[in-house]
Amino acid sequence: MKKINLIVVAFCVLGFISCQNSNTNNPETSSPSVSSVLEVEQKVTALLKQMTLEEKIGQMNQYNGFWDLTGPAPSTGAAAKKHEHLRKGYVGSMLNVRGVENVRKVQKIAVEETRLGIPLIIGFDVIHGYETISPIPLAESASWDLKAIKKSAQVAAEEAAAAGINWTFAPMVDISRDARWGRVMEGAGEDPYLGSKIAFARVQGFQGSDLSQHTTIAACAKHFVGYGFAESGREYNTVDVGTSTLNNIIFPPFQATIDAGVRTFMNSFNELNGIPATGNEYLQRDLLKDQWGFDGFIVTDWGSIEEMISHGHAKDGKHAAEIAAKAGSDMDMESYLYVTELANLVREGNVKEAYIDAAARRILRVKFELGLFEDPYKYCNLQREKEVIGQQAFHDAALDMAKKSIVLLKNDNQLLPLKKQGQKIALIGALASDKTSPLGNWRIAAKDSTAVSVLEGMQAYKDNQLTYAKGADVSLGKTKFTAELNINTTNRSEFPQAIAVAKTADVVVMVLGEVGYQSGEARSRTELGLPGVQQELLEAIYKVNKNIVLVLNNGRPLVLNWHQEHLPAIVEAWQLGTQSGNAIAQVLYGDYNPSGKLPMSFPRAVGQVPIYYNYKNTGRPSIPASNTVFWSHFQDVQNTPLYPFGYGLSYTTFEYTALKAKVVSNHEIKVSVILKNSGKISGKEVVQLYIKDHYASVTRPVRELKGFELVRLEPNQSQKIAFTLTEKELGFYDNEGDFIVELGDFSIFIGSDSNAKLHTKITLK
Ligand code: BGC
Repeated sequence: MKKINLIVVAFCVLGFISCQNSNTNNPETSSPSVSSVLEVEQKVTALLKQMTLEEKIGQMNQYNGFWDLTGPAPSTGAAAKKHEHLRKGYVGSMLNVRGVENVRKVQKIAVEETRLGIPLIIGFDVIHGYETISPIPLAESASWDLKAIKKSAQVAAEEAAAAGINWTFAPMVDISRDARWGRVMEGAGEDPYLGSKIAFARVQGFQGSDLSQHTTIAACAKHFVGYGFAESGREYNTVDVGTSTLNNIIFPPFQATIDAGVRTFMNSFNELNGIPATGNEYLQRDLLKDQWGFDGFIVTDWGSIEEMISHGHAKDGKHAAEIAAKAGSDMDMESYLYVTELANLVREGNVKEAYIDAAARRILRVKFELGLFEDPYKYCNLQREKEVIGQQAFHDAALDMAKKSIVLLKNDNQLLPLKKQGQKIALIGALASDKTSPLGNWRIAAKDSTAVSVLEGMQAYKDNQLTYAKGADVSLGKTKFTAELNINTTNRSEFPQAIAVAKTADVVVMVLGEVGYQSGEARSRTELGLPGVQQELLEAIYKVNKNIVLVLNNGRPLVLNWHQEHLPAIVEAWQLGTQSGNAIAQVLYGDYNPSGKLPMSFPRAVGQVPIYYNYKNTGRPSIPASNTVFWSHFQDVQNTPLYPFGYGLSYTTFEYTALKAKVVSNHEIKVSVILKNSGKISGKEVVQLYIKDHYASVTRPVRELKGFELVRLEPNQSQKIAFTLTEKELGFYDNEGDFIVELGDFSIFIGSDSNAKLHTKITLK
């Protein structure tokens, strides 16, 4: 295979300064100047010189809050030592301490009672908002609107920072192709290209252009690595993936966060190809730190050092601490093993002190960059906390993001938008009045019942007659973050009332799906239908009124065959956060024309999962001429998903014509297409460009997204949309980890989803 180029991956072998400099080449990323980087390094060096071994290890120790989540501070066991450790300077960070008063309390101990007064870095899972909640990240990704996504992270950072927090454990950039995995809600979906763009935008949003501002916080790219490929989608399960998938699918969004200047990484709970990520020296030290030049620090996932014992990789806690430290895990989240074991391991000569110095240096570097040494209480301003949290501008941004996240899946006979007057509308479903589920799973700082429900959102349209009936609960009782859910599989007592309401309605809006805690961490599912008795309820209503708009609230792709076949209109509304009901109502009534596109394929059956648009062709991709059975397929279901990646409708229509591609050189291909709004109202379209590399030394997917643009057009307006493909888009990582471009034939597809028909072919010679 003839290669035209061998692009050296941006290895920052010269260490942190050269990497910082490489970021300055990116106009979108603002990095500190060389002089300020050097200044920070000098300060860190000076501080390190004063520190005892125990104090340096202390920086590598992170504790959960004393009172949050888990209740009052424990008085026995290792956790009872937290206060004592904090006073001795053996704690570098705390998580889940929030609110100015609480943060000030712990920071005061660190700053005023420890020997060196090193401030704590305060971490929190600000995943999609702090108290004002944005759509779940998967939903935001459906907007394909990088500006809005960046803005959402910015708002989250500002609000969290006002509550004393200076570090978020986000963005989660794990690619996943498996809707069974509950954490798909927290990522950007199945595609590495879209995922990388979103990862970049989110880091920029959280960190801004100056980390030392009191409105910005350090971001954390997680989970390094492979977590989204857990076998059978079962949470925390084993991961075994090959080099090509790692390099081309899983790594790119992490690399994008480095390009955006991310300051921390979190490793993952899973083992990858036999080695737990937390103990993986190749991944953390060789690849991430040395080859990719990451100069921030790596925090472990919760207790993951200790979990290496259960994985069968470490003999005991001491052994686990040794493996993790050698592997380059800089900070121990809640295993208590660095603080108890590392000093002895160093004294006995089992862990080099240089590793401790390097880890402490990385952590202190970020603290200096945050400006914590200048003013450890800079995030602790009570007045600001009062003024900033929950401000109207944040709600406006959350509403804007929520509308942009909605995907219209079906709209026969233009049932939507709903008429604003003279209609009898039946609103049915427990989720329609649920003010908590729209907040999703990761919203530990938001109070229950603070989301606008669909019922409330629709009540704002007063010229219709709206009647609500619950129909059936989705879950009974327990809805807490920490508890198993109790899904309602038996109680149908409120069906009759809902049926009666539906019978006389002009249109029935049914809000069905998953409660907020049904996706997220440890919420894997084997079935992807509507949970509990909701499907039965839907079919019972359908018997009396077929004019149904199904509004889905969910944290993952669902199987929707019956719905696609029978219902005239389907709206994917995910879990949209605080402003959920307003956003949904505005879309249903046409005050906002939806433009969202799916960031994950929706399967026809669970048996198809993992299902993704960028699959490989296999040697037997289609029915052979002899019409035998021997080709790659299922006997009972088509190979294709029900709704493909990138799919989503609008209240208007778009036409694509005049696709052109010109090979300027083997390094540059100019592509253009004409997009026309052929419908009757103004609307936005996500123009998507996919390539297919027809043959290569390592086989390539049938299609790969390599460009997209969000375009607004008025009715009848046309616009030429142009893309440039370079080596970056045309190449791939081979199995040696080198990025290469191979000559040959490429197809280019442009259209409104990953099934785009319009295509042309080019050849690189
Ligand atoms: C999750 C992380 C999270 C951490 C701290 C873990 O269980 O996997 O993503 O940041 O807890 O809350």
